[in-house]
Amino acid sequence: MFQINRICCIGAGYVGGPTCSVIAHMCPEIHVTVVDVNESRINAWNSDTLPIYEPGLKEVVESCRGKNLFFSTDIDSAIRDADLVFISVNTPTKTYGMGKGRAADLKYIEACARRIVEVSNGYKIVTEKSTVPVRAAESIRRIFDSNTKPNLNLQVLSNPEFLAEGTAVRDLKEPDRVLIGGDETAEGQRAIRALCGVYEHWVPKTRIITTNTWSSELSKLAANAFLAQRISSINSISALCESTGADVEEVALAIGMDQRIGSKFLKASVGFGGSCFQKDVLNLVYLCEALNLPEVASYWQQVIDMNEYQRRRFACRIIDCLFNTVTGKKIALLGFSFKKDTGDTRESSSIYISQYLLDEGAKLHIYDPKVLKEQIILDLSQPHISEDPNRVSELVTVSVDPYQACQGAHALVICTEWDMFRDLDYERIYDHMLKPAFLFDGRRLLDQLHPRLQNIGFRLRPSGKKVTSSVPYTPAELRQHQPEPPAKKAKGHTPTQHQPEPPAKKAKATPHSASTRTSGQEGQSLTHPHSASTRTPPRRPKSGHTPTQHQTPHLVSILLYEDNH
Ligand code: UDX
Ligand code: UDX
Repeated sequence: MFQINRICCIGAGYVGGPTCSVIAHMCPEIHVTVVDVNESRINAWNSDTLPIYEPGLKEVVESCRGKNLFFSTDIDSAIRDADLVFISVNTPTKTYGMGKGRAADLKYIEACARRIVEVSNGYKIVTEKSTVPVRAAESIRRIFDSNTKPNLNLQVLSNPEFLAEGTAVRDLKEPDRVLIGGDETAEGQRAIRALCGVYEHWVPKTRIITTNTWSSELSKLAANAFLAQRISSINSISALCESTGADVEEVALAIGMDQRIGSKFLKASVGFGGSCFQKDVLNLVYLCEALNLPEVASYWQQVIDMNEYQRRRFACRIIDCLFNTVTGKKIALLGFSFKKDTGDTRESSSIYISQYLLDEGAKLHIYDPKVLKEQIILDLSQPHISEDPNRVSELVTVSVDPYQACQGAHALVICTEWDMFRDLDYERIYDHMLKPAFLFDGRRLLDQLHPRLQNIGFRLRPSGKKVTSSVPYTPAELRQHQPEPPAKKAKGHTPTQHQPEPPAKKAKATPHSASTRTSGQEGQSLTHPHSASTRTPPRRPKSGHTPTQHQTPHLVSILLYEDNH
């Protein structure tokens, strides 16, 4: 069997860095070099402050860095010396030309392939680690074949990585499975066996699956699409729950106990984020369209549409509850990373929720335990998020702690499920918020604390649960906080916007009020035809049907429900 003694990994990002650190940790006799064009990233890998936050990663890196694990910008030497080269560069969604907004941009993969063939000699196994469209390996092979030279033998394998951020080290040490795809030829099988030999250092053989190259490439896209689909499915149910009185947590528990369904990935949320799900589903959609499978394409497109809808719906619920206006109001947004235990903000739902609130003129005070201020400002200043970066610096404050963020806020909004948000001093937070103090829990993080939070006086708005109270203020709140002095400070709205409405008689459904009834489940909005909830339908950049078609059945069912109960 061909023995792999030296590994080079091109791309020291969220995938390449942790994956190769764990390989080096588990295989002390294999020399592993991770290379990257980005010098400051490599310097960070060689320092005490790693470029990414990942629980347990620092210990792994420190256990083998300088022994059999190296980080370098000398890409050519590392490729030349390696028996196996992992390609772990990013494959972002194309922002230009054909397939713009959907297809994966393979320019970095191609650049790597060209570099490898140029500097290599002898036998090498080249392995796609990055998620790629099906048949990308064929493109790599074509580049190799067109540039071949004497004594050069490059075998191409697909070995997608299934780690999730925040649990990367655990996922790498105890993977559900390792997938290796290769040619069905004798040469291909030899390369597969060699790579299996690396993983067999710590992964049971029964968990190492070998397939043909295309199955391996497609399995990675399909796995991410299935995971994303589960989240969109439960999020669609959360919308139904908010309209009917069911509780999405109870529904998830009930359906998840069916072993055929299973309990994982049924957590309703503010929508999925991260660098992979949206990109990979869009990639799948594009692939289906390119292969003339429009029905399959539109099936998967719905997963993305539902995710956009969920983000928008969440933002609109905040606006509705705050009496249909957030202009000039301070809102504390807790959590900016796309999930807990990572500082990664790529495609984080917090960005889009912030965007909707900023569009309405809200003053956002954002806190995240791991995301740097510069990153938050950068994300919100992107041209597709904000047309005017000055507006971002005007309306966004990045707070040093959650208490500062909540001081004087109308609402506290939880976007990321950081454990520390469970342990906050909510009495202290409540005391310093404006009243009524709304708490929007987009992650259902605080369910266990509900009785306590309610006693404190918070107006709880957990996602995926209908709020039963139809009275916007308690009598105590009315006495205590009328008029509401600090609101006068806020720019762009008048105190009257905060004056409580008398408990409204249940409005008869009219075409206009119908739109507010989407949020009218809250029973609190100041109903007017241009209510924020009229903006809830998702943007559909390119498919055939219009938002109205989305909205109508939803509204009709709500009206029926309200009328019958
Ligand atoms: C991941 C996965 O590898 C991929 O499967 C998924 O499709 C997208 O994201 P990730 O590690 O999260 O990649 O990306 P990133 O953190 O951006 O790291 C990629 C690294 O590759 C960067 O540090 C970049 O500088 C480096 N790179 C990119 C090169 O070294 N050379 C290039 O030509 C291009
Ligand atoms: C995902 C896949 O899980 C992983 O296998 C693949 O290699 C890369 O893409 P990642 O994006 O790092 O990993 O994190 P993941 O835990 O899958 O979460 C993705 C998003 O979905 C996050 O925003 C998370 O908060 C959200 N999510 C996850 C939910 O909203 N509900 C859930 O039940 C699970």
